[in-house]
Amino acid sequence: MTDPREFIHRLPKAELHLHIEGSLEPEMMFALARKNGIALPYASVEAVRAAYDFSDLQSFLDLYYAGAAVLRTERDFYELTAAYLRRAIADEVRHAELFFDPQTHTARGVPLAAVFAGIAGALRQARAEHGFSGRMILCFLRHLSEAEAFATLDAALPLRAEYAGLWIGVGLDSGELGNPPEKFAGVFARARDLGLRVVAHAGEEGPPAYVRGALDALEAERIDHGVRAEEDPALLRRLVETQTPLTVCPLSNLKLRVVKDLREHNLARLLRAGLCVTLNSDDPAYFGGYLNANFIAAAEALALSRDELAALARNSFRASFVSEAERRPWLDEIDALAAR
Ligand code: ADE
Ligand code: ZN
Repeated sequence: MTDPREFIHRLPKAELHLHIEGSLEPEMMFALARKNGIALPYASVEAVRAAYDFSDLQSFLDLYYAGAAVLRTERDFYELTAAYLRRAIADEVRHAELFFDPQTHTARGVPLAAVFAGIAGALRQARAEHGFSGRMILCFLRHLSEAEAFATLDAALPLRAEYAGLWIGVGLDSGELGNPPEKFAGVFARARDLGLRVVAHAGEEGPPAYVRGALDALEAERIDHGVRAEEDPALLRRLVETQTPLTVCPLSNLKLRVVKDLREHNLARLLRAGLCVTLNSDDPAYFGGYLNANFIAAAEALALSRDELAALARNSFRASFVSEAERRPWLDEIDALAAR
C-alpha cells in the first residue's frame, strides 16, 4: 500500500477531541431551523459556509453558539450525533469520546435529559449496529462562572446511572483567554472525587501557563490542543516524561489562525520530540474536514511518514479512556497494517 491516503483511510483511529455541536453541517442547521421555527441570519446553505471565515477562536465561537440554537429536542441531538457517527465510521474511526456543551442548550430551555438521551441514543445504536465504541465528555463553558459549572455537574449527576459507561468525564472549553484553568479548580476536584475522567482545553490561544494550570490545578489527564506548550521547554520535558496526551486539531488551528500555514504546524515536531500527540477534528463542520481529512492535510503539509501516521493512530487509542483489553485489538490491527 503506497498511497498515503489509502493507508490513512485504513488505519483504525480514535477521535478524542470532537465537539458534537461542531459537527452540525449547514444543511442540517437549515433543516432543523425550519423544523423548529428558528430564524437563521443566513439566506442559504452557501451563505452559511461563506460566513466560516474566522479571525480567531472567539469569531468562531460566536457562530458556533448561534448555530447550536437550532438544536431543541432529543431527536435533534440524536440526528446530529448519528450523522457524525456515520462519517466517523466511514473514516475507520473505531472509538470516539465526544464533547458536548450542555450549558449552550440548557440556557435556551432545552432539558439536560434531552441532550443526554439524544447523544447516547445514537452512540448505543452505533455500538449495536457497527460495534462502534463511543463515550461522552461533558464540557463546562469556561467563559461562564465556576458556580454555573457546579450547577451543571449537579444537574447531570442524577443521569449518571442511566448513562453509566457512556458519560465518563468532564472537560473545559470555550473562550480560553482570560479564563484560566484555576477558575475551575473546585468543580474539577469534585468531578475527580466522583470518579469522572478529566480533560481540558489549554494552550490553543492561551499561554503555556494555562497548560501548567490544567495539569496542576485541574489534574487534567489530557490536554486538548496544547500546541503553545512548545514555548516552554521545561513544560515540554514534563509532557514527554508524563506522556500526557495532546489532542491536536490541525485544520482547526489553521481555520482559527493559531497557525498561518499548516507547514508551520508544530505537531510533527512535538511528535518527534516524544510527546503523545493525537490528531482530531474539533469542529469539522466549521473547519472543513473530519478525521481523515485532518490526517491527510497534516501528512501532506508536514511530510509525515507511514511510521508517524501509525504512531498517531496508536497514540489515539493509548490516550483514550478505554481499558487495555479494549484497545489491544485496535493496536494489533494498526501493527498488522503498518507491517505490510
Ligand atoms: N468549543 C468548540 N470548539 C472549541 C475550541 N476549538 N476551543 C475552545 N472551545 C471550543
Ligand atoms: Zn475543541
